[in-house]
Amino acid sequence: MKSIFRSDLLAGRVALVTGGGSGIGRGIAEAFLAHGASVGIVGRNVERLNAAAAEMGERCVPAPADVRDPKAVEAALDAVTAALGPIDVVVNSAAGNFLAPAAALSPNGFRTVMDIDANGTFNVCRAAFDRSLRDRGGVVLNVSATLHYAATPLQVHASAAKAAVDAITRTLAVEWGPLGVRVVGIAPGPIDGTEGMSRLAPGDAKERVLGAIPLRRFGRIDEMGTLAVFLVSEGASYISGETVVADGGAWLGTASVWMGG
Ligand code: HXC
Repeated sequence: MKSIFRSDLLAGRVALVTGGGSGIGRGIAEAFLAHGASVGIVGRNVERLNAAAAEMGERCVPAPADVRDPKAVEAALDAVTAALGPIDVVVNSAAGNFLAPAAALSPNGFRTVMDIDANGTFNVCRAAFDRSLRDRGGVVLNVSATLHYAATPLQVHASAAKAAVDAITRTLAVEWGPLGVRVVGIAPGPIDGTEGMSRLAPGDAKERVLGAIPLRRFGRIDEMGTLAVFLVSEGASYISGETVVADGGAWLGTASVWMGG
C-alpha cells in the first residue's frame, strides 16, 4: 500500500510499540518503519515477537515483556534504548479481552484485563517518562476503544479498562504537556484480521456487526497504522489529550438498530 505521507516522515525517531508482534500494534510498528522510524516491539509471546521482528527488518528489535510487570517493562525499555537510542514515541497497544457476562466474570478475569490494558499502559508510560520523555519530550499514543462511550454488554472488564486508558491519555497530556510530551489516543472500531475481531465477533456475528457500521465495511489494520503515523508526526503537533475514533461511524450508529439500521 502506497502511503500518503513522505517516506522519511519519522526518520530518526525511535518508537516503542507494545503488542507490536501482532494485530493493530504490529500494523502501527510496520507503518512507523515504513516512514523511517526505528521500532522496539514489546510482547509476551517471545516466539511470535521474535518472528515478527525478523520479518520487519533490521530497524525493528524485539523486547519481550509482560506489560503487567513494571520491572520487565523497565528492562524492555532499557534494551530498546540500548539498541536504538532514546525512545521518542510510545505506543500502548497491548490489550486483553474476551466476551463474558458480568454475572459470570470472576474477579480475577476483571482484574486481568484491567491489569493488561490500564496498569500496563501506565507502567509503560511511567518507565518511558523516567528514561527519556521527561528530558527530551515525545509522543505517547494509547490504543483505546469505543466500548465505554455508551455501554457494551459482555464487556464490563474491557470497557472499564479502556475508560481508564482514556483517563490516562487526558491526565498525562495535562501533566506532561509543559515538558513537550503530547499524549494522544486512537479508538479503533471493528478491524478485520485482528484477534479482537475473532474474539468479539466470531462466526456469523461478523455479519451482524457489519450491518451496524455506517460505512458498511470493517476497518483495516493499515488504516490504523496511517492514523498512528499522522498522530505522532509534526502534522499533529497541536493535538494532545485527544483520542481519535476510527470506527467507520460504528459507535454513533449504535442507536440506529431502533430504526432498522
Ligand atoms: C471468562 C475468562 C475468559 C473468558 C479468561 N478468563 N478468559 N473469563 N471468559 N473467555 C479469566 C480466567 O478464567 C481467569 O480468571 C482470568 O481471566 C485470567 O485468565 P488467564 O488465562 O490466567 O490470563 P492470561 O493468561 O494472563 O491471559 C490474559 C487474557 C487472554 C486476557 C485472559 O485472553 C489473553 O492473553 N489475551 C491477549 C490477546 C487479546 O485478548 N487480544 C484481544 C484484544 S481486543 P480465574 O478467576 O479463572 O482465575 C481488544 C479490543 C477491544 O482489546 C475493543 C474492540 C472493539
